[in-house]
This record gives sequence, C-alpha cells and structure tokens, in this order.
Amino acid sequence: VLIPPPSLSAKYEGSFAYLTVRDRLPMILTKVIDTIHRNKNNFFEKHGEVGVEAEKRAISFLSKLRNELQTDKPVLLLTDSADDTEAWNRYMQRQQDLMEDRQPVSWFKSPWLYVECYMYRRIQEALWLSPPISDFDAFKEGKTSGFFESQQAIISLCTYLREILASTDNASKKWLFEHFFRLLQVSLWGNRCDLSISAGQENSQKSNPMDCLADLQQFILVDDSDKVWSILTSAQGSGGSEKTGIRVDIILDNAGFELVTDLVLADFMVSVGLAKEVRFHGKSIPWYVSDVNKQDFDWTISQTTASNHKHMSSCGVQWKRHVKDGAWSYHDHRFWTLPHEFCDMPAEAADLYSTLQGSDLILFKGDLNYRRLTGDRMWEHTVPFERALRGFLPAPLCSLRTLKANVQVGLQPGQAEKLASQDPEWMISGKYAVIQFCSPLKE
Ligand code: F6P
Ligand code: MG
Repeated sequence: VLIPPPSLSAKYEGSFAYLTVRDRLPMILTKVIDTIHRNKNNFFEKHGEVGVEAEKRAISFLSKLRNELQTDKPVLLLTDSADDTEAWNRYMQRQQDLMEDRQPVSWFKSPWLYVECYMYRRIQEALWLSPPISDFDAFKEGKTSGFFESQQAIISLCTYLREILASTDNASKKWLFEHFFRLLQVSLWGNRCDLSISAGQENSQKSNPMDCLADLQQFILVDDSDKVWSILTSAQGSGGSEKTGIRVDIILDNAGFELVTDLVLADFMVSVGLAKEVRFHGKSIPWYVSDVNKQDFDWTISQTTASNHKHMSSCGVQWKRHVKDGAWSYHDHRFWTLPHEFCDMPAEAADLYSTLQGSDLILFKGDLNYRRLTGDRMWEHTVPFERALRGFLPAPLCSLRTLKANVQVGLQPGQAEKLASQDPEWMISGKYAVIQFCSPLKE
C-alpha cells in the first residue's frame, strides 16, 4: 500500500497553512461576530426578547471559538444534533488516532483542511444552538455585494453569451469549440473572486472578463481543456449541434461573479447541445465565506432575471427555464461540508459517489475542491493527478482551479522549480490556474 505524503498543517511554522490559521481564520470569525451584532436591530430583534438573547448566545459561542483557536486549544466534539454531527465526531476520533504521543487534536497541530472546515462547522453549531436565528447566513451580505460590485462584468458576459447564442444557426464545430474554450476559461478565472482568501475583503470582477483571456493564458499551468472537449463531443452526432444525452455535474464553489460564470458556461453547453443536463452541487450550510448554497443559487437567478439590462435579464429568464424544464437542477449533500478528502467519499457518502458515477463529466470548481481531491497533502509537484486522487474517480473529472494553497500535482519536471524562482507566491496568490483532467476511461 502506498502511503500518501503528510497533510498540510499549521504545525509547519511560517507555512501558508500556519499563516491562515494564525491570521486569516480569526479575522473571518471576527467578521462573523460583527455581522451578527450589526444585524441585531433589523434581523434578530424582530423575534423579540428571544431574538436578542439568541444573538448574545451566538456571539458568546463564537468568541469562545475564536479564543480556542488563537490559544491552540484541543478541538472539541460537536454538541448539536444535526444529521452530520456524528460523522464529524467520528472524524475527530480518526484525527486523534493519527496524532503522535497522544497529543490532542488542535488548531495548530492537526491538518489544515480539517481544522479549517471544522471552524465553519462550529460557526454553524453556534447558530444552531441559538434558535431562532439558526438559519442566519453571516456571509450573505458579502456574497450579495460581490455580485453587485461585479455588475458590469456580469453584463458583459451575459451580452457575449446572448450574442453568440443568437448566431448559432450555422455553428461549425470549430465555432463551438472556440466559444466553449473561452467560457471554460471565464469560469476558471471566475474562481479568483472568492471571499475566503481575502478574509472577506474583496471578491468582485471589475473588468470585462472576455478581454483578459488572452493575457491570462500564460498563467494556466496545466491545460487539459481539449480532453474535456473530447468527452463532450465523443458521444456527439456528426452534426455537432444535435442534442445528446450528456450529463455534466458542476461542483460549485463561490457565489457572486464566479457563480455567474458557471451558469453562463452551463447555459452555453445546454443551449448548443453539448450537454443535455447540468447538475449543480452546492453547500447545505454557509461555508468558506463565499461558497454557494441553495439560497444563493436561487437569489442569483432571480437577480439576473430582474435586471434592467436586456441581455442580462434574458439570461436570467433562460436560466429559470432551464431549471423549470429540468435541464438544470440544484443538489446538496452533507458530504460537501464534511472535512474528508474526496477519496473517502465511497465509504462516507456512497449515495453521492454512485450519483456522480452517472455523470459524463464532473467539473470541480475552485481551490478547496482541489485540496479535497488531492487530500491537501504535500505531494511532489510531478506526481500524476490520478495518483493524488487515490482512487476517487467516479467519472471523467476536471478541476478548474486558481491556486490558493500549497498543493499542486501533475506538473512537468522542472516546472514548479522554475515558477518558484520567478514568483515565490505562485501557489497561493490566485494568479496561476489549472484545468486538470482525469478519466477512468481509456483515452
Ligand atoms: O487559501 C485560501 C483559502 O481560504 C483556502 O483556505 C481555500 O482553499 C480557499 O481560499 C478557498 O478558495 P476557493 O473558494 O477557491 O475554494
Ligand atoms: Mg470558496
């Protein structure tokens, strides 16, 4: 049995994991506390005295959490009784078994992926233990303002989509291919707009996303988009634009501009017949600041529909139609907000794994999904992607990810060294990206 390399962890002082746990996570918690406090009047007080009490209670849980984190206290069992509580507590035991010398599982000693996910789950616990404010999404404001601040870019993108779709009649394969590539890249770079990396400071797209693609091409370290294309077209009739039965699953990452880029890509695939069905997978609790949940998904489509801009609103109308006629669907599963590496999915969420096996192509958006695909481990950069997946391969899959954490596999010999000498921050700045594909099928 091949033993995988160790997990990234704050125990490596000075590492990006360390700086995240030391600086960024407490900042995110402070923001959550402020947000709850600021919403006292317009949200919690409407529940009267119990609302006010709940607000105080949640804030005291969260301050305690921040203190535990900053003083590297042992990680505690969850005490709510949600449907994932037991899975979390079991996972903690598993982490405990991995600790040397029976040291406790703690913020600065345990794997980064685990403790970071755990923080978001504890935020949810604080709310769940504070009814009636349990369904308050402390990240909602940031997600909606990211959307509004990206308005111009969204309009440009919607205009581009409506214009190309209006001219598809004589679409050649070459035409389809060019536009697909562009929209795939827009969705890729959309991943730079997340709120977690900046601890909630900034996440909007200001410029026209179509204009930057050529300049950004050089920053794509692995580009398997031709393999993605062949999956979509292999089952395609020779006409190219005929409807086929291809099903694409998109494992969503962030709300705001990134979600719009994903919807645009999905609309294109369905409208030109590259895919018959797109299933979107989101989170069931607020997660990593800007990740999409059901409310964000629905809100984004309604906002788009309600726009004053004709191309933007016609995108929204079209998206509503895709949902209504079943070409699009939204799904969530508790596994997406558990801390496991994806190779644990068959054992931990067999139902989800078998649903994904029915897909023709799974697109994993973003950095966190990449970390979970590769187990957030210190792989050598030349290790093949398939090896880092450690058996997780329910269907052909592709990661669309901008690099924001110290894990990257599947590079050419010397490529990482060259990048590191030019730009020490290459793995964490979000400036570089990959379109990285792996398939269980023979090529
Ligand atoms: O490293 C920065 C970070 O906060 C990571 O913790 C996380 O992997 C990432 O940002 C979130 O990025 P994304 O939204 O692309 O998954
Ligand atoms: Mg995210």
